[in-house]
Amino acid sequence: MNKFRRIGILTSGGDAPGMNAVIRAIVRKADKMGVETVGIIGGYKGLLNQNFMSLTPQAVSNIINKGGTMLYSDRCPEFKTEEGMQKAIENCRLNNIDAIIAIGGDGTFRGATDLSIRGIPTIGVTGTIDNDITATEYTVGFNTALDTVVEILDKLRDTCESHARCNIVEVMGRDCGQIALLSGLAAGALAVVIPEMPFDEAATIARIRSAKIKCKRGMLIVVSEGVYVTNEKNERVCYGELLKEKIQSETGIETKFVRLAHIVRGGIPTVRDRKVATQMGAKAIDLIMEGKSNLVVVEEDGQITSKEIVFALTTDRMYKNMLQPGDLDQFSEEEIEEMKAICEKRRAEIKELYEMVGDMTI
Ligand code: ADP
Ligand code: F6P
Repeated sequence: MNKFRRIGILTSGGDAPGMNAVIRAIVRKADKMGVETVGIIGGYKGLLNQNFMSLTPQAVSNIINKGGTMLYSDRCPEFKTEEGMQKAIENCRLNNIDAIIAIGGDGTFRGATDLSIRGIPTIGVTGTIDNDITATEYTVGFNTALDTVVEILDKLRDTCESHARCNIVEVMGRDCGQIALLSGLAAGALAVVIPEMPFDEAATIARIRSAKIKCKRGMLIVVSEGVYVTNEKNERVCYGELLKEKIQSETGIETKFVRLAHIVRGGIPTVRDRKVATQMGAKAIDLIMEGKSNLVVVEEDGQITSKEIVFALTTDRMYKNMLQPGDLDQFSEEEIEEMKAICEKRRAEIKELYEMVGDMTI
């Protein structure tokens, strides 16, 4: 008989296209294994409020193609407290929830690891448009977000060309520039501005002047929301808005600024997102049934596999140069070398693509 008979599923943090496909995969595969699934509505808040729904294979029909999340999502500060955590554990016991699969980003995985170490087996599945979990090559939702941005950039290109304008487009991604970088590359942007790479403003303005002389009319620049300056009131001001003013005053080219914001989070998931979502959802249920816990499902060298959540969170801190004293103490030499290799690979890929954007300008 299975040790796990009832598994809770939740989506947490910012939603992402493809989350529904993950839910569907978990429910359908669990059912094949004779395991019941229960939907926890509204992320960790739903766990604290005992807000549940039954999930049958029929209940997840017609969602593979839907953006958003049928289980809804929320942010829940109370869950981060020890009191909130104990309430969550108590609610799992009261409702016979033997294990949890948590779909979200790094915050969601921090919550998942806290549940795991307190005795509720939990597995994380990535669901974030940002692609900012360093230990995985891919997060569910990223490809759809890219397609959405590129579609909008293509539209802006038309009107920029007609009016000989420059358009600065700010895209989400938190402190990760991958959405800006990849969409900018694919849409033929004149430049991208991302937190991971130093931006040469003077060289970019010179490039705009030179492009104008060569009769280039429409110009696009994609700026990640993670690039900002802090003003005298200690408020964050998006760098894209400042760049717009600079380009306009220094080149005489009419320049517009647009913030895509949450538009990028919605929409029909692409084939890539539906495929990875299905693979990752199926892997998560496999891991639970093998008695595993405290893991996050990742893509590595194109294969769906898993890593310890603490490994993934520490690799993120290493990548962002934010390691704290003692962070690496629990890891073996091999694991630390693996983390370093993951970070180096990601940095090299970003650098290569960033330089390629510059190489493509006229
Ligand atoms: P994401 O998962 O997309 O990164 P958040 O960072 O907002 O989104 O995290 C989602 C939720 O996960 C939070 O609202 C909170 O309930 C939980 N969470 C975040 N950080 C922690 C933490 N350090 N410990 C426990 N739970 C956390
Ligand atoms: O993590 C996904 C994300 O959309 C980020 O790109 C963005 O910075 C953040 O969430 C926005 O959060 P909210 O939906 O709370 O405004």
